[in-house]
Amino acid sequence: MRAVAFAEFGAAPEVQDIAIPEPAEGEVRVQVRAASVNGIDLAIAAGYLNGMMEHRFPVVLGKDFAGVVDAVGAGVEGYAVGDRVFGVVTKAFLGDGSFGEYVTVPAAVGLATLPDVVSFTEGAALGLAGTAAADAVDAAQLGAGQVVLVAGATGGVGNQAVQLAVRSGATVVATAHSTEEEALVTGLGAVEVVDYREDVAAQILVAHPEGVDAVIHLAGDAAALLPALRDGGRFASTLLGSSEQLPTESATVVPVYASPSTATLDRLAENVAQQHTTVTIERVYPLDQFGQAFADFRAGTVGKLVILID
Ligand SMILES: NC(=O)c1ccc[n+]([C@@H]2O[C@H](COP(=O)([O-])OP(=O)(O)OC[C@H]3O[C@@H](n4cnc5c(N)ncnc54)[C@H](OP(=O)(O)O)[C@@H]3O)[C@@H](O)[C@H]2O)c1
Repeated sequence: MRAVAFAEFGAAPEVQDIAIPEPAEGEVRVQVRAASVNGIDLAIAAGYLNGMMEHRFPVVLGKDFAGVVDAVGAGVEGYAVGDRVFGVVTKAFLGDGSFGEYVTVPAAVGLATLPDVVSFTEGAALGLAGTAAADAVDAAQLGAGQVVLVAGATGGVGNQAVQLAVRSGATVVATAHSTEEEALVTGLGAVEVVDYREDVAAQILVAHPEGVDAVIHLAGDAAALLPALRDGGRFASTLLGSSEQLPTESATVVPVYASPSTATLDRLAENVAQQHTTVTIERVYPLDQFGQAFADFRAGTVGKLVILID
């Protein structure tokens, strides 16, 4: 099969011909129709996870996927050949990835049914970013009448976080810096916009002198955002590995590590199917243009970049 892989540490990823993987016990094999780019793919390609996670070469890049089940391993219940699915590759080692024609994934985590009304392109863009957003919004414990700042609202995670925060009843203040970005976040339900190229906390305190109830931190300097939070507020961050990285006595700091349970993936897909949320796709690429997709991701995105595999 064709897949974007690298054969050893230091080697550049390229489209290679490698063996089609066989599903182990508890796994399904998915014929991948679409996959999306996340920051972790670039980090793995750059070798940043060397020494942190086992690498089984050739390492195929890609976490997010959507496609069709084409083989079912022993002991799997609930999935059959032909099912439309989507999710996130969650294995404890790096090797199996979604930027290829097939990927094997555990059925128990990181996999869910893709509703017929949700396209493979949308499904491929929903898994990791959607899960991170859902987990961050849950960690922020939002409710009606609360005000939340979403810092990094224009990215893949931010797009989903803004919409989920709105659905929780909160008033959303979003970061953006261009007219296009402002239109995007207000279209998703944000009622106020702050320019992240200026002092975000200072802008927040003009309209909310006591500070906002919660910050969902997906981009920018955490310490610089903290003054925007009221006493007793919650600071949920996908960037902090531990609360000790943001010492404060006046707020609760919650590091968020996306956990793509089937329940969370089902919730995200159902929201899209019911048109409660949308997935913003900025651009799609054929597999052999993955390098351009990586370059575009690095340069900054408004929404998700999707690689189509046919
Ligand atoms: N912990 C986890 O499990 C987990 C899971 C998924 C993602 N993440 C992390 O969460 C973060 C967001 O992910 P993503 O996929 O949404 O990334 P992304 O698509 O790169 O989005 C980041 C967005 O933030 C904007 N931005 C840049 N600097 C900013 C600033 N100072 N203040 C506010 N916004 C700023 C960017 O705008 P421009 O395009 O204009 O630069 C971009 O739209 C990443 O750091 C990612 O690694 C963590």
